[in-house]
Amino acid sequence: MKGLILAGGKGTRLRPLTINTPKPIVPVANSPFLLYQIDLMQSGGIEEIILSLSYQPRKIEDLLKDGSDYGTRIRYAVEANPLGTGGAFKNAEEHLDSTTVVFNGDVLTSIDLSAVLALHRERGAVATLVLTPVDNPSAYGLVETTPDGLVRRFVEKPGPNEITCNTINAGIYVLEPSVLRYMPKGEPYSFERGLFPALLENKELVLAYILDKYWIDIGTPKKYLEVHHDILAGRFVSRRVAPDHLDRSALPAGTIVDKKSIIDSDVRIGSGVRIENSVIGRNCKIDEGVQIIDSVVWSGNTIDTDSRIVGSLVGKGCYIGRSVSLRAGVVLGDKTVVTDYSQL
Ligand code: GDD
Ligand code: MG
Repeated sequence: MKGLILAGGKGTRLRPLTINTPKPIVPVANSPFLLYQIDLMQSGGIEEIILSLSYQPRKIEDLLKDGSDYGTRIRYAVEANPLGTGGAFKNAEEHLDSTTVVFNGDVLTSIDLSAVLALHRERGAVATLVLTPVDNPSAYGLVETTPDGLVRRFVEKPGPNEITCNTINAGIYVLEPSVLRYMPKGEPYSFERGLFPALLENKELVLAYILDKYWIDIGTPKKYLEVHHDILAGRFVSRRVAPDHLDRSALPAGTIVDKKSIIDSDVRIGSGVRIENSVIGRNCKIDEGVQIIDSVVWSGNTIDTDSRIVGSLVGKGCYIGRSVSLRAGVVLGDKTVVTDYSQL
């Protein structure tokens, strides 16, 4: 059995955070995102993972190397030009000689992968698609099922009149190598708009596994912030969540850092600071009177006196001047300089 992670998208919706850091390795609770997915692959008994890359592949390869630091074996399949989700899978064809578990490289879940694999084998499916219920399917692939657990219809990014159910494609598949024959080689091809509809048209056995566990696609600033709040509230638990490094008993006068916030190493915190429900990366300097609430701050940032950051995302190495106010939804790219007293 093999694993393949689709990790070649440009992460446009998560810009500017993804300008220097490809989405698959943005930090989630101070650990590169792909580590959570590698753990999940391992939980399903997968010993070899193919990373399908296209955008900034070197940064991902330099971090994960051959996988041995993380207890797995990683191979890389790099596309010179993005080939889409299906094209990326086809591009890795030479490695795909057995049942393969595929993940979209931006979904985080506490799925029981062994249960999905067991169902797939039991019913002899060609493809098993994991589905999850959501309130609004329009940003996803809507998937209709039959009462006996088969996929009936797949509609990627359905329009308002096409929303017939609340189950969507969770971006986790089990595929048999036989699906490769439906896929063209060396040209852009989509799982969602090409392969899945083709399998259904050809009456192949496509199963649905409906998830009742935590699931999120981290690919927008709103969702990226949400996953952090879920982790801090204990709604998603993983050994990859980085430990908190702050000695709260040694904080300066008047400083409060709530217990749920996660503060990485080498963070200097001044007096009268308030940090709540937030994640702070390593090597940050947080001056007197600063407030950081419901936010995610990456590494190497300086936040000057009396600034207030609420519900916002701050990339690496920024300088935020004094008495700045960042309010809900602000996203700062790496190395941003914000002038004293600015309000965003
Ligand atoms: N290698 C490679 N090459 N990977 C790619 C390419 C490509 O050309 N294009 C996209 N990917 C990767 C992305 O990096 C991401 O991990 C995954 O494929 C899905 O792409 P997204 O751009 O994040 O798609 P989406 O979120 O709009 O929709 C997809 O995910 C939803 C669940 O979150 C679809 O699969 C939907 O059907 C699904 O509901
Ligand atoms: Mg996505």
